[in-house]
Amino acid sequence: MDGNGRWAQQRGLPRIAGHNEGVESVRDTVEACGQLGVKYLTLYAFSIENWKRPDDEVSLLMRLLMRALRDETDKLHRNNVRVSTIGETSSLPREVRDELLDTITRTGNNTGLNLCLALSYSGRWDITRAVRSIVESVTGGKTDPGSITEEVFAGHLSTREMPDPDLLIRTSGENRISNFLLWQTAYSELYISKLYWPEFRREELYNAIEDYQHRERRFGMVSEQVRPDPVPPPPPGRIELKNVSEL
Ligand code: IPE
Ligand code: MG
Repeated sequence: MDGNGRWAQQRGLPRIAGHNEGVESVRDTVEACGQLGVKYLTLYAFSIENWKRPDDEVSLLMRLLMRALRDETDKLHRNNVRVSTIGETSSLPREVRDELLDTITRTGNNTGLNLCLALSYSGRWDITRAVRSIVESVTGGKTDPGSITEEVFAGHLSTREMPDPDLLIRTSGENRISNFLLWQTAYSELYISKLYWPEFRREELYNAIEDYQHRERRFGMVSEQVRPDPVPPPPPGRIELKNVSEL
């Protein structure tokens, strides 16, 4: 989610006005994903590098996050959304952590959209942490180095309970990953939207998904290997009857 500051600047407003409006985009996107039947949505809300921003912007962002969680948890719960986080959340202010814990606990048994908030997250942090955890397991005699496969490695990442993303959307026209899910996006389809995040609403989400639906994901193979088998025509002389419920 990028471009909040530029959106505000363009209108002669303080950066926080862009962050505020960005919350509306989050609301619309989450709601649309739930309605579309998307199973996993991860929002890159705050990177480890974002801590280096001026103190007043960081604290306003934290306050905004807290307020959004407080205001939205009931609705998220009603909509069967299950909230989780990835990132070094221990660095977040106490009040934010309390609010997060409340949201995560209350929505923990929901079975609809899995909404994952990347907070104080960075891809390199995630990978480094996984390495540390594997090394500990090896030195503790629990893991044989020869048994470390890609799957084993992925099992030590913060995203171990999620599938790799199919589609990565970045807003504000920047062509960068910016330390997001580095390992996990190896074969994700990228969609760069020109819109600033506060302008991003479900219409642009639909554009991204439609674009994605026309991609051919080859995963290093050739087209013939991944093309779905054509539906065979019905045998001659047989009339295909439609299922009654479809009539
Ligand atoms: C994204 O918008 C929000 C966060 C990173 C928290 P930015 O704040 O990065 O907006 P720009 O890039 O300055 O326009
Ligand atoms: Mg930015």
